[in-house]
This record gives sequence, C-alpha cells and structure tokens, in this order.
Amino acid sequence: MERTLVLVKPDGVERRLVGEILSRFERRGLRLVGMKLVHPDRALAERHYAVHAGKPFYGELVNFITGGPVVAIALEAEDAVRLVRTMMGALRPSEALPGTIRGDYTTDVQRNLVHGSDSADNAATELALWFRPDELLP
Ligand code: RTP
Ligand code: MG
Repeated sequence: MERTLVLVKPDGVERRLVGEILSRFERRGLRLVGMKLVHPDRALAERHYAVHAGKPFYGELVNFITGGPVVAIALEAEDAVRLVRTMMGALRPSEALPGTIRGDYTTDVQRNLVHGSDSADNAATELALWFRPDELLP
C-alpha cells in the first residue's frame, strides 16, 4: 500500500468542487486517511513548491496557492501516487483528458484544481509537511 497527498487548490474550494473531487477518489476505492481545510501561509507554500523555485511561474504559483483555503487530503491505495496523477489529468490543458478532474473542470494551466504528489519520495515529504503524524490514520 502507498500513500499520497492531494490538495484541492483554492480555485477548487472557491468553485465548491471539494465534494466532487473527493467523491471521485472515494468511488474509485482509495482509502481516506487524513483530511483538513488549511489556509497555507507563504512559508508552507514555498516549502511545498520548493522544487519550482526560480521558475518563471513560481511567484504567481505561491500567490495563487496562498490566496485562499485548500483542502489537504491523504489517500491510500496500491500505487496511489500514479493512480491519483492519472485521475487528476495532465498539466497542459489540451492534454488533460475528459474523465479526469482537470479534463472535466478546467482549461487553466495554473488554476487547475488539484495537486497530487509526483513520486513516492515526494509523497512522504509532502504528507509530513501538511500533516502531523497523529492527524493520519495508522
Ligand atoms: P501539481 O504539482 O500542482 O500537482 O501539478 P503538476 O505536477 O501537474 O504540475 P507542476 O509542473 O508540478 O506545476 C505545479 C503547478 O504550478 C502551476 N504551473 N503553472 N504557468 C505555467 O506555465 C505553470 N506551470 C505550472 C500549476 O498550478 C501546476 O499545477
Ligand atoms: Mg507537480
């Protein structure tokens, strides 16, 4: 079993899509092991997106992700990291297939509703960043 971090980004909360997004993962059969509504400060956002520091979209990305509350969700499944990435859809809007979250609900490369960890190592790091150990089910 593997765990991964999903964030419903501020645009998803603002558009009232939290339930819709969570229900897709639930219906698919992933196990919910942690969840909270958080308004991230810049320090948290900068650590979360540290890998993108220096890229042209980085400043705007940190502004976006700190612009409102997000829902942090910890999910567990076999191959959860890749499963969630598949269900999210591609970053590039023209490549996000219908049936994926991004492919069904957004055409915007930044305001793209969801984050999902992109490797098992990053999932472990990100889960530790967003959740205390006692906030996750055993
Ligand atoms: P995420 O990290 O949020 O799960 O998304 P991702 O892996 O599909 O995409 P990534 O390359 O990690 O980029 C992180 C987030 O930065 C914003 N972005 N904007 N304007 C741009 O060209 C651009 N590129 C990326 C998006 O919000 C993206 O999800
Ligand atoms: Mg990413």
